[in-house]
Amino acid sequence: MAVSAAIIGTVGWFWASSFVPSTYSVMDMGYVDLGGGPAGMADVPGMADMPGMPAAVSVADLTGPATGTPDSAVTLIARKETFRLATGQKVDGYTLNHASPGPTIRVTQGDLLAVTLINESVSDGVTLHWHGIDVPNAEDGVAGVTQDAVPVGGRFIYRFKVEDAGTYWYHSHQDSSVQIPGGLFGALIVEPRTGSPTVPAAAPSLPSPVTPAAPEQEIVVALHTYGDLRTINGGTGLQRIDSPAGASVRVRIINTDPVVLGVAITGAQFKVVAHDGHDINKPTDLDGTSIVIPAGGRMDISFTVPIAGVAVRIDMGSGAGVAIGPQAATPAPLGSLSGALNLLTYGSPAPIGFDPGHPDRRFEYRIGRRIGFVGGVPGDWWTVNGHVIPDVPMFEVSQGDVVVMTIVNASAVVHPMHLHGHHAVVLSRDGVATSGSPWWTDSLNVESDSTYVIAFVADNPGIWMDHCHNLQHAVDGLISHLAYTGVTEPFRIGGSAHNHPA
Ligand code: C2O
Ligand code: CU
Repeated sequence: MAVSAAIIGTVGWFWASSFVPSTYSVMDMGYVDLGGGPAGMADVPGMADMPGMPAAVSVADLTGPATGTPDSAVTLIARKETFRLATGQKVDGYTLNHASPGPTIRVTQGDLLAVTLINESVSDGVTLHWHGIDVPNAEDGVAGVTQDAVPVGGRFIYRFKVEDAGTYWYHSHQDSSVQIPGGLFGALIVEPRTGSPTVPAAAPSLPSPVTPAAPEQEIVVALHTYGDLRTINGGTGLQRIDSPAGASVRVRIINTDPVVLGVAITGAQFKVVAHDGHDINKPTDLDGTSIVIPAGGRMDISFTVPIAGVAVRIDMGSGAGVAIGPQAATPAPLGSLSGALNLLTYGSPAPIGFDPGHPDRRFEYRIGRRIGFVGGVPGDWWTVNGHVIPDVPMFEVSQGDVVVMTIVNASAVVHPMHLHGHHAVVLSRDGVATSGSPWWTDSLNVESDSTYVIAFVADNPGIWMDHCHNLQHAVDGLISHLAYTGVTEPFRIGGSAHNHPA
């Protein structure tokens, strides 16, 4: 009797203590992890009021340039509605300007971009997050962390300079586990400002071409699954794209799904020229190698179109893909593949711009699982460093810190980990140091039973989500935050704006 009473009592205590308040600040979640660095002076009792102390800054004030004419201005109107895919199928989901994917935003590096988001009919509210772009914190679009969700009839203007050329995408970060699968996303391409690495130089040993080399043809391939419809750019099946033999083509592949996707390229040798918006240094030719793109991740590939064309297929067997080549070409058959590209060794080393050898902070992000309660609901929940949400670590940094983070996954399931506002470089996987091109990433697949050590410079003040991009996992607690010393949080999860970032 006593024993079972004790068990019931203990379980009852865990149940009762698992309730997440309906409204709270992410700053009150869990506990501060200083990673071996100093506590911010503002955190030392009594110091915040000392003369000469830098004043705390609110997330809401960490905006992009408030003035200046934007180089590119876009208005996106969000709706909940039934729409038709390019190939005709009906989907009940979400659109931007009546389309899903939303319009591809194309800007040039260094441009000031202004996006006006208008919510016409998404009753749960919407935001826009610029996945992979290191925007100022107040432009990051995370409901309850960097802004309130925009209600029906409301609008929000995002203004920021795009500093890094590359392939990115945008998506809602309010109820993102529902709104992204439902279609509330689009591609964002930042073209390089000077020179154009996309124009191939004529090889000197070749006879001079009759016409000057044409600029590289560029194709955006956004992968997305609506329900059970595998699509590329909102269309099912193998889509044909005209391209003359001999053309140089760059394909920007974006995985907007919550799970990893395998991509097969057949018909030509190719190079992976960029990963998560960053160029790969000296990529080498690949042939028959499949590439694996984590949830949220991007890879740019380039090749020269042969007479018979090239096929880029996703998830072999889904039927979705693009066939690029002269009109008469029959898409190259799938053929046999020789394993997946290993980014640990691909390309050649190059400077990363900082020294991760003597970091100011070292963090661990250990992902596990535990049976227990969250919000009174029993389940097998994700844990971060042994804790279930909301009792997760808040990783605290100061501006300028060099940060090394070890991500360990012992949860039996892969997690595509996404840190907002920063680009990290992979130092090692399972103890093996990178020996290829710097492996810059914002969407890193951390396979089960693997350990990645990553490094980044804390150069973008704010409060940043660091979560799994399998968004149901984020809903189920695989979320932490990176917080800068002296930054305060005016927004609330829940609250009157009903902010639910995951
Ligand atoms: Cu693609 Cu937290 O987001
Ligand atoms: Cu996950």
